[in-house]
Amino acid sequence: LRERLGSRSIVLVGMMGAGKSSVGKRLARRLNLPFADADVEIEQAAGMTIPEIFAHHGEPAFRDGEKKVISRLLENGPMVLATGGGAFMSDETQAAIARHGISVWLKAELDLLLRRVRRRDDRPLLKTDDPATTLARLIDLRYPVYARATLTVVSHDVPQDVMVEAVVDALA
Ligand code: S3P
Repeated sequence: LRERLGSRSIVLVGMMGAGKSSVGKRLARRLNLPFADADVEIEQAAGMTIPEIFAHHGEPAFRDGEKKVISRLLENGPMVLATGGGAFMSDETQAAIARHGISVWLKAELDLLLRRVRRRDDRPLLKTDDPATTLARLIDLRYPVYARATLTVVSHDVPQDVMVEAVVDALA
């Protein structure tokens, strides 16, 4: 698999709570590749947290930084790259990922996403009265776009190592 990848990265896309970061980290270890998390890289580049970026500069500025950070990371592949849930919605980012990597959509049901995002509540887009409805709307909007990913792996509530093997199998 490493040989077939060449300089191409494995890029995990999908909703908040789908497990991109946690599965990505383990997948990288499993394949002996470096791991990068676009959200973390954006925070480092900006010198502030994602909620702070949204609050001080707004979502468009965040999206702009996200695009730049992801295209820079992709130049330095191969790696396993976890992207934020909105990243793949950009045509430009999608094209960059197609050029430099293999996109893998971690697809999860609303219930699983909700349970997961409730555990970590630092996502500006979910600071609403009704995160369930917000997530459901985002699912409607985003799933047709995520479906353009090269591979789709359905994310179940199983141990992360099982998900890692499911991704490895899909890539094989
Ligand atoms: C976002 C998802 C977040 C983060 C930001 C916006 C989104 O990343 O990039 O809060 O638009 O879905 P995760 O998918 O890693 O939570």
